[in-house]
Amino acid sequence: MSPSQIVTQKRMTAEEAAALIQNGEVISTSGFTPAGYPKAIPVALAERAKRLHEIGEDFKLSLYTGASVGDELDGELARAKALNFRMPYQSNKDLRNGINSGEIEFVDFHLSHVAQYLRYGFIPKTNTAIVEACEVTNDGKIYLTTSGGMSATFLRDADRIFVELNTGAPRGLMGFHDVYVPKSPPNRPPLPIYHAGDRIGTPYIKVDPKKIAGIVTTDIPDNTPGFRAPDADSEAIAAHVIEFLLHEQKMGRLPEHLPYQSGVGNVANAVLSGFATHPQIEPISLYTEVMQDGVFELIEADRLEVASTCSLTLSAEGQVKFRDNIDELKHKIIIRQQEMSNNPEVIRRLGVISMNTALEMDIFGHVNSTHVMGSKMMNGIGGSGDFCRNAYISIFMSPSIAKNGDISAVVPMVSHVDHNEHSVQVLVTEQGLADLRGLSPVPRARKIIEHCAHPDYRELLTEYLEFGLKNGSSHHTPHSLSRAFEFHQRFLETGSMKHA
Ligand code: COA
Repeated sequence: MSPSQIVTQKRMTAEEAAALIQNGEVISTSGFTPAGYPKAIPVALAERAKRLHEIGEDFKLSLYTGASVGDELDGELARAKALNFRMPYQSNKDLRNGINSGEIEFVDFHLSHVAQYLRYGFIPKTNTAIVEACEVTNDGKIYLTTSGGMSATFLRDADRIFVELNTGAPRGLMGFHDVYVPKSPPNRPPLPIYHAGDRIGTPYIKVDPKKIAGIVTTDIPDNTPGFRAPDADSEAIAAHVIEFLLHEQKMGRLPEHLPYQSGVGNVANAVLSGFATHPQIEPISLYTEVMQDGVFELIEADRLEVASTCSLTLSAEGQVKFRDNIDELKHKIIIRQQEMSNNPEVIRRLGVISMNTALEMDIFGHVNSTHVMGSKMMNGIGGSGDFCRNAYISIFMSPSIAKNGDISAVVPMVSHVDHNEHSVQVLVTEQGLADLRGLSPVPRARKIIEHCAHPDYRELLTEYLEFGLKNGSSHHTPHSLSRAFEFHQRFLETGSMKHA
């Protein structure tokens, strides 16, 4: 097919586009997970930064994206020392190092919040937006590729736009997106999403073609790492979750057709896999932010009604499967902007059951998803808060130990709080499941220790609880402030949370 007039007129190389971006700019890009992010201009920008640094010139950018993105963007720019500010989520090793060394400022946001922060003027506006598209029309319709992210708001907000037209992305992606930007309060009407599959917007983002400063053609695929087969711990966690859900169903506490949200990673994939294979599970719908390969198992088992997501985070093999079945999948999958995929009002109303992964949890039910030993940023809160706080039932999962057993995921007091006892309802490890609904702090603590803690740590945790009950200032939440972080301190001093 011959390129449209706008592509011919505005065509430029990635290097030419990068050369127009100036030191100090705020750049916003498409992308949510390593899906649908620009891949050529960022690499050219990193090269430009390195050249300028070599001759002693400053070149640093602020970068806003939907969430984490591929290495061509976060990794290249971090390694080129081209970033001084980043938000709202990341999962790149080199970027993480830059954040933890203090070189790059990082703001960790609820993902549903960011676009409206930008529209309300709470955060600095963007100079340049760079989006990956599978089509751009002469009248300025931009059809995104594999993620929604915040592109609609970024394209509206930015002074100028570069498009990476990815000719390798299937054109059949046109029609997957549902682009809707809510009005600002006090004029925002209720969002008319009554079912995970409802479409309320347009399949494209409309921009003023005059704002498009250049179109770069690429054919680079999403760089998504493959998924490991679920390990024994993930399978055990998945089995506990499914047993719990079936019990809830039996007790009449789980209405039919509640949608599920499932987080990132191997535990989440194992749960979806369990949903696909367990003989008693009915077909489900997903109202989630990330769709991984696990969803194909559901489809193949005829157990997926519909999936609302913000991204298609598929391995190379998953991308082939998607392409081969694209027309059929268009009836099953909707890609939304993240403030819709993660919208608290919709999540609460639809009764989404959320399932996310924790780094650590404490005996009173608080969850840390982000900070290792209370201070080192891992990835960010992502969408876990959007879903957890508003879920019909909010579930957090984690293996009970990390680092060969030297770290207990269950601790006296989490070293950083992302989700608190008021929002966290169910905790699960490979050891078992603790349903915390309706429990006051001490019975909650006993249940978490008994059901979720690894046997190597149960005695230490029980001793801490009993010490607080005997010596603490209150029997309500019997913390001992002088001892609350002793597990973490012991790890930092000796390399293990266990007693020497
Ligand atoms: N203390 C220190 N390190 C810990 C730890 C703890 N309590 N628990 C796990 N770790 C380490 C692991 O050892 C592993 O280290 P390695 O990379 O050196 O091997 C690393 O953290 C990741 O652990 P892993 O078990 O592989 O977890 P994961 O890939 O399932 O990720 C989170 C877990 C919490 C980091 C991840 O789910 C996350 O970033 N969540 C926040 C965002 C979110 O929930 N989004 C949900 C909506 S999609």
